[in-house]
Amino acid sequence: MWRFHKWFERHSLILLVGILLVVSVGGLVQITPLFFIESTIEEVKGVRPYTPLELKGRQIYVREGCYVCHSQMVRPLRDEVERYGHYSLAAESMYDHPFQWGSKRTGPDLARVGGRYSDEWHRAHLADPRSMVPESVMPPYAFLEAKELRTDDIVNHLRVNAMLKVPYTEEQIANAAADVRAQADPDSDASTAFAARYPTVTPRSYDGDSARLTEMDALIAYLQMLGAGVNFSTYQADAPENQR
Ligand code: HEC
Repeated sequence: MWRFHKWFERHSLILLVGILLVVSVGGLVQITPLFFIESTIEEVKGVRPYTPLELKGRQIYVREGCYVCHSQMVRPLRDEVERYGHYSLAAESMYDHPFQWGSKRTGPDLARVGGRYSDEWHRAHLADPRSMVPESVMPPYAFLEAKELRTDDIVNHLRVNAMLKVPYTEEQIANAAADVRAQADPDSDASTAFAARYPTVTPRSYDGDSARLTEMDALIAYLQMLGAGVNFSTYQADAPENQR
């Protein structure tokens, strides 16, 4: 058999064809099963699709380029886990289109920032980071509080996510424009209907002014849910009660 090996070594074209054959066998073995298995991501209890308001906040996060300075993935390394908490699970970004993992960290990782600070802290910090952290190099985003949140595109936004297999119901899609307001306006009638559609989310005014729906509301709603879904004090990768 090794007699033929010299062909490969002497003719670059034959070598190229040989390489392509070997690589495609390896590729097929890895890629073909993905078309037949139900899911490549293990589902984890507590991970849910974004509410319309959080989805808008996420859009603002991407628009403002927050990912240029912040990653959203805790690596399974001791220093990361001690600083940020449990390492990130694949399921935690299964509804992210596109995901925000990133690798550039001028600021800290934000994968587990939800619930770490109050809404007021975020409002003050986003408006003027140096008022909360004097040595911060983060730019101020005070204008978000003055900008009315655009909501006319939210139904299509949910619909596109549904096309990408985010499990939004027809009812959630149809009511997205009402729900995006209701989540930031706890006293409105619509907030009861919202709570029925998103049972684990309690409506509240994120920027302290429930009369106006601003981009600040949306961004804080998004930040406050990052990493807050899964209960990591009880989470165990193989335990059946953590899987849906
Ligand atoms: C130029 C880089 C830069 C950009 C852009 C940036 N940040 Fe930051 N961010 C930082 C730095 C540095 C810190 C750490 C100091 C501080 O807390 O202000 C920080 C801290 C934070 C914190 C507190 C994290 C913690 O665990 O203490 C949050 C939340 C945050 N940023 C959100 C955002 C959001 C939302 C955006 C986009 C609207 C954004 N950042 C854009 C650099 C940046």
